Amino acid sequence: MAETIKKISYTSGQLIVPHHPKIPFFPGDGIGEEVWQAARQAFDAAVAAAYGKNRTIEWIEVLAGQKALASGHALLPDETLDAIREYRVAIKGPTMTPVGGGHRSINVTLRQALDLYANVRPVRYFDGVVAPVVNPEALDVVIFRENTEDVYAGIEFAAESDDCQRVEQLLKDMNCNVRPGSGIGIKVISKHGTRRLIRAAIDYALDTGRRRVTMVHKGNIMKETEGAFRRWGYELAAEAFPNTAIAACDLPSQEVPFTPGKVVLDDVIADAMFQELLLRPSRYDVIAAPNLNGDYLSDACAAQVGGLGIAPGANIGDGMAVFEATHGTAPDIAGKGIANPCSMMLSGAMLLRHIGWHDAAARIDKSVAAVLKSGRMTTDLAAKREHIEVLGTDAFGAAVVEAINS
Ligand code: NAI
Repeated sequence: MAETIKKISYTSGQLIVPHHPKIPFFPGDGIGEEVWQAARQAFDAAVAAAYGKNRTIEWIEVLAGQKALASGHALLPDETLDAIREYRVAIKGPTMTPVGGGHRSINVTLRQALDLYANVRPVRYFDGVVAPVVNPEALDVVIFRENTEDVYAGIEFAAESDDCQRVEQLLKDMNCNVRPGSGIGIKVISKHGTRRLIRAAIDYALDTGRRRVTMVHKGNIMKETEGAFRRWGYELAAEAFPNTAIAACDLPSQEVPFTPGKVVLDDVIADAMFQELLLRPSRYDVIAAPNLNGDYLSDACAAQVGGLGIAPGANIGDGMAVFEATHGTAPDIAGKGIANPCSMMLSGAMLLRHIGWHDAAARIDKSVAAVLKSGRMTTDLAAKREHIEVLGTDAFGAAVVEAINS
């Protein structure tokens, strides 16, 4: 019985969260362990500050990456996947992926094995961080990137291989001419994959009081994939949210006032969206995009606010979610105690919000923001500024904990 009440469960589309849940984590490779240690202290401090002893998290370490290999396990052991399935919510650090060969990315495997179909990346400006644009604070968006389809489905044929020549012939039979000797990749976007992503984005916008969901696609060129993404998105909204999601084309003006409990659904062509985010950032709110557009947009938005290294992220499916620091293993600084733990901390805040512990989540967000604003930051952010106090990973973590407790 004691074991059962420590498990988050999922019933009728809702997470049921006990007051003392077990949550699996793996710190990952490279700087993972350093940033995890700093972030974990902030998570525990925020939960204690918000709820006293009434709520706690029992963090349970699961194996993945180099640590798993070193102890004689697979890179991503089945037990790890099973634990995430069982406990439903997990958090991870970065893991190393070899380029051009070697093992497959742990992140890609996790997303596919657990069907975590939405990659969610909130991007906002933190006062005190140097950004390359004049008004970085005008951008405050949450990107929902489809995580399982598009050109990431991995359907590729090497130029001149037998399979590629068969595909070439098949295309020729359908009157589609391909220059001989081409490599061929196939882009797949399904109705099912699109509908569940757009549903998640609209649900999120309604739950968090955001006013607009913008689908970003290149449907003018890729009519049957990205064009279909747009069409299926509008169809889903009309069917599933008839009174709460209003298609922009049904409105008298594009500049709609915010109506609580309702969102506007519109769409923008991908190339125009990059301009839009620079020229009219405050117009955008929640962005829903196929995999590749979402990948580009996530990094472009994070760079715009100077926060490429601090943006948090989550991979979310139905009743299951894995939160993650979005940076890599940073092998060049691993073990030096100078890594920036903000991405891991802010990902943990997303996790807390996901399980409904809003007060604790807000304390982390507020405290990270306060420490950065006070001019205390790790060397990666400090390099671009004067009059700041450079802190190591542990000291930054301690400063955030102090801010949480003050
Ligand atoms: P990276 O993000 O590890 O490093 C790029 C640059 O940013 C480096 O100069 C690094 O020192 C710096 N950096 C990254 N995170 C930082 C932090 N928290 N604090 C201070 N500086 C930080 O990207 P890179 O070098 O392309 O990849 C290294 C390894 O990480 C590769 O094996 C790659 O596959 C893996 N990776 C894993 C990811 C994940 O698990 N989510 C995401 C991106 C890369």
